Parts: sequence; structure tokens; C-alpha cells
Amino acid sequence: MAGLSQHAHWSSRWTFLLAAVGSAVGLGNIWKFPYEAGEGGGGAFVLVYLAFVFAVGLPVLIAELSLGRRGQLSPIGSMAKIANEEGRSKAWGLIGWSGVVGGFIVISFYSVVGGWVLAYLVKAMSGFSGYDAAISTQTFGTFVADPVSPIIAHFAFLAITIGIVARGVTGGLEKAVTFLMPALFALLVGMMIYSGITGDFGAAVNFLFNPDFAKLTIETVLQALGLAFFSLSLALGSIMTYGSYLTKEMNIPRSAVIIAAADSGVALMAGLAIFPIVFAFGLEPGQSVGLVFTTLPIAFGQMTGGAIVGTMFFFLLTVAAVTSSISLLEPAVSYVEERTGIDRKKVALFIGAAAFALGTLSAWGQGGNLLGDVKILGLDFMSFKDYITNNILMPLGGMFIAIFVGWFISRKTMMEELAMEEGTFKIWLFLVRFVCPVAIGAVFISILYNTIIA
Ligand code: TRP
Repeated sequence: MAGLSQHAHWSSRWTFLLAAVGSAVGLGNIWKFPYEAGEGGGGAFVLVYLAFVFAVGLPVLIAELSLGRRGQLSPIGSMAKIANEEGRSKAWGLIGWSGVVGGFIVISFYSVVGGWVLAYLVKAMSGFSGYDAAISTQTFGTFVADPVSPIIAHFAFLAITIGIVARGVTGGLEKAVTFLMPALFALLVGMMIYSGITGDFGAAVNFLFNPDFAKLTIETVLQALGLAFFSLSLALGSIMTYGSYLTKEMNIPRSAVIIAAADSGVALMAGLAIFPIVFAFGLEPGQSVGLVFTTLPIAFGQMTGGAIVGTMFFFLLTVAAVTSSISLLEPAVSYVEERTGIDRKKVALFIGAAAFALGTLSAWGQGGNLLGDVKILGLDFMSFKDYITNNILMPLGGMFIAIFVGWFISRKTMMEELAMEEGTFKIWLFLVRFVCPVAIGAVFISILYNTIIA
């Protein structure tokens, strides 16, 4: 059976870490985190977010990597295989399906936003001079409502992703992250220093770290958990697939701590790179989605050397988005490749083309665009797909992953995979058995409650 053919492995622990951090660090950290933190009460949100990353996200991250490595197959293949080996119901295989399908849905709209970033990278090169709030908002609005340009950008972004995934784990993914991740890190540090010196660093620190617990509502707590999961790339195939390319020698818990620390570190650094500029130019920090696409360009347009800084920033964002989107395409590609034995290049092209088609709906579903008036349950296409993945597949997937490894896999299997000290293992087991299911379950129920009642 083609499904049992031996698949690729990372060539070193270092390339695995770069790839996994590359998957985790993305639009979630540099675009979503700063504005959600801003809206959710600054330091209070950040504290809750960090608590979720380490108490709920990290144990699930460890679980997912272990499941992938144990199975040595795509998430669908691995879950079926492990459930079978452990004498458990075939239904556990649904975790794999939900991951692969969910990842595919996410890439279909993630790559639309990736396209916006790419288009803004091109715009940034010629500078944003003369941009004020009105011009900037209008420029962005006109761009996303255009039926053609965002589609071309979406296409270009996916073409980059497909090109990397088509070349395989060692020939594509590893090569890409080996030079992209250090570049991303250098750019981010550079941006942070630059805005620390030229911008209002004190205001940014105050905004991000001074906790305003009054702004902490149930919704922001839910948002923090969702963001922690999204940012760590959990439950939608990426991490399990990357885990399946691990060899037995690698220490999963230690790697997972590095990934979680790097991921939240980058989120904080992104906040410290963005907000000093925003405050120095007297701009509004709570512009949600518009923070990166409408607020920052105003600052880039006014500062000296703004074309360079703006180009650097959007390049950084492009790199972060690309190294995440390859991890969103990879699970489906690895599954189809394993099932059919068809050449990876063709599979990547085919699945990428399907993601392009599905993503077109999201691009055209922006207000004023071709499908801007079409609503599903009151949501445009992009928000609908975001809702299904972020609020349903991700929490359910994460909860069942925790329950599966906590209650349904033999302790011996997990001890073997994790090679942890007895004491640390017990902490991990307690977290996946009780803390993760309860925390995620509570969040999931309140989301449903809010949607149905509100
Ligand atoms: N973590 C990435 C980000 O922060 C996005 C991402 C990649 C993702 N793979 C994922 C999110 C799997 C959820 C699940 O932008």
C-alpha cells in the first residue's frame, strides 16, 4: 500500500525548529496579536494569552508532534494508524480529517491576506507619501474591493507557496526556511530597534504591558485562547505533519518549549516594533484589521526613509506569511501523496489550485467586491471560513487531541515518545487530561452560546 511508503525526514533538529517556528510565526503574530492585544486591554490580554500559550497550547503542541512522529504518516494516516495500534475506535481518525480539511480551508483565505501583504510590499517600495487617514483607508478599501488586483496577488502568493511545497520537505521546505527565518528574525530585531529609537517606545510598552483588567471580558479571553492556538498552528494538520518528519532522536518536549517561546516572543517583538511608530505619529492603535494595512502606511509615508522601513516591514510580513502557508498546504499534499502515490509536484499544484479557487470567494467577498453582498449566517466568505476553522475545528480538534493522548493512548507509548522525567511527564499528563479539555471545552461552549444567543 502506498500509504506505508517511508516518507521524508528533516535533515537536522535545527531545520525542524526553523520550519516549526516558521509555521507558528505568521500573520497571527505580526498582524493579529498586536491589534487584539490593543483592543483587549493591553497587558491583561497579553498575560492571559501567554498563560494559554504555555498551559494549554504547549501541552497540545507536544501531543501533536508526538502523534505525528508516532504515525510517520499524514495526519489522517497517522491518526488511523495509532488508533488501530492502541486498539481504539476508528472514529479517532476524524482528528486527522478535521486537521487536513481545516488546514486547507485556512490556506484558502490565509493566502488572500498573504496576497494583500504582497501587494503592499510592492506599494511600499514606491513609498506611501502623502498618506493621511482618509487616503490610506480609501486606498486599502479600493484595493480589496477591486475584482482583479487582489486575485492576482492571491495567485502570486499561492504560487510561491506551491513552488516551495512541490520541492518536498528537504528540497523545498527546509531550504526555504533556512534562509527565510534568519532574515525574518533580523528584520524584526532591526525594526524593533529602529522604532524603539525613533518612535514612542514608552507609550508602546505601556500600551502592551500595562494591564487594564477592566477591558478583559469573556470575549477577549476567548479571543486569547483562539489566538494562542492559531498562532501555534495547532489542531489543523500543520504541526502533526511536521512531527511526522521527525526522527526518534529528537526531543519533542524541549523542541516544543522552544517553538512556543519563539512564537510568543515574536508576537511581543512585533508589538514593540509596531506600536512605537503608531504612537509617535499620533495614530489610533485599535484599528483592528486596518492596523497593518491602513495605519502603518500613514506612518511610513511621513517618516524619513519610510520607503525603506515600509518595504522592510512588508517583506518581513510576507516572509512570515509564506513560511506559515507552506505548513498549511503540506498536510493535504502529504495525505494525497501518501494515498495515491502521485508525484508530489502534481499534487501540490492540484491542491494549490483548489485553494486558489476556494480563496477567490474570500477575495471577492470583501465589501464592495463581486460577492461582497453574499452572506452565510451573516458572515462574508472570509469571516465564515475563519469562523468554522477558528471557532469550531480548532477548539474541537485541540480538545480531542488532548483527550486522545491523555486518556486513550497507553502511558507506555507516551512515555516512549516524550522521554521526559517522571515529574515533568506527570505535569504534562495532568495538563492534557484535565486543564486542556476543560479550558478548551469552556471556550468552545461559550462561543456556541454567544453565537446562538447573540
Ligand atoms: N500560525 C500561523 C500564524 O500565526 C498560521 C498557521 C499555520 C496556522 N498553520 C496553521 C494556524 C495551522 C492554525 C493551524 O499566522
